[in-house]
Amino acid sequence: MITNAKVFRPEHPPRDLHHREGQLDHLSSVLDPTRVDRPENVCIFGPSGAGKTTIAKYTLDQLEKEALDLHWAYVNCMADNTPAAVLFEIVRETGLGADIKREGTASSEAIHRLRECDDHIIAVLDEVGSLDEQPLLALWNVPNVSLICITIDEDEWFTALSSKAKSRMQSAETVRMDKYRHTELVDILDSRVVHGLVGSRLDDGVIDYIADLAAGDARYAIALLRQAALHVDRHDMHQLTEPVVDAIADDAASEIRDRNIRSLGSHHRLLLRIIEEADEIDSGTLHARYEDRVQSPKSRPTRRRYLRSLIRSDLVERDGSTQDMRYRSLD
Ligand SMILES: Nc1ncnc2c1ncn2[C@@H]1O[C@H](COP(=O)(O)OP(=O)(O)O)[C@@H](O)[C@H]1O
Ligand SMILES: [Mg+2]
Repeated sequence: MITNAKVFRPEHPPRDLHHREGQLDHLSSVLDPTRVDRPENVCIFGPSGAGKTTIAKYTLDQLEKEALDLHWAYVNCMADNTPAAVLFEIVRETGLGADIKREGTASSEAIHRLRECDDHIIAVLDEVGSLDEQPLLALWNVPNVSLICITIDEDEWFTALSSKAKSRMQSAETVRMDKYRHTELVDILDSRVVHGLVGSRLDDGVIDYIADLAAGDARYAIALLRQAALHVDRHDMHQLTEPVVDAIADDAASEIRDRNIRSLGSHHRLLLRIIEEADEIDSGTLHARYEDRVQSPKSRPTRRRYLRSLIRSDLVERDGSTQDMRYRSLD
């Protein structure tokens, strides 16, 4: 029943961005390269699957078509997690660093390249809660660079920043995205059905059923639809029904989890592995095992930032008081 598998790929940009017109207009006007004053910095906040990453990329694709002197770069800070790696990635993606190598490029050299460029550069820092504040401030200080900082939990991020960084980030424009409502998810799903499935083979009401299960999370909704359609095809079934959705619900959740893990940088991944190996582990033992296993360990504050990212991604949970913190893997 799948006619176009591409429309279900997570990296595939949606043809139409549904129900985010207000946020789209807001973002485009803040970043408009033709503004007389310098385009601003923006923070995007909202839960997982609310469309944060999608709206940022979608807006920049559109702005890029209208402006010749605009470059943009996208970095997932949970993957590219050293300051130098993040800055290198921005320079590379904007086409300003074809001649430099990732290894050995100092942060100062990357910042210099950005500063020397006459054009306007927009850097998307996704999962910015994982990023050290030093490259954040360095980028902030480059006049021709605007930042789009994306994270789930605004309070948690601000709490972890120094007062200097916090006051800067709070002066940025803010775009907030809530979980999708039921009818909005239905529209998002319907559009994927039209472009990727044989619609007549979906039972009446099954899209409503998927939207209910997904509870406002477009990523999970799309994964459920994809896994259900795959199940129908693999088992030579005719209809996509509610029991099919029930049968694959766990697979859809694992697909998202696996993808999250694959996108992690090596230090995030090691922390996760140590927690998984132990099932449950106290903070002291976790840090000791981590230090045993890496040659150049990240500082404790950095590790704590990475651990908070793992929690936000629903890979790990934590409980206990500050003195008696315990981490557990969630699978
Ligand atoms: N408004 C929308 N219209 C169409 N598809 C959407 C919309 N919002 C999210 N999606 C899809 O849902 C999935 C999750 O969106 P994403 O932007 O990755 O969420 P977030 O970054 O907030 O976790 C992606 O596959 C994206 O294409
Ligand atoms: Mg995202």
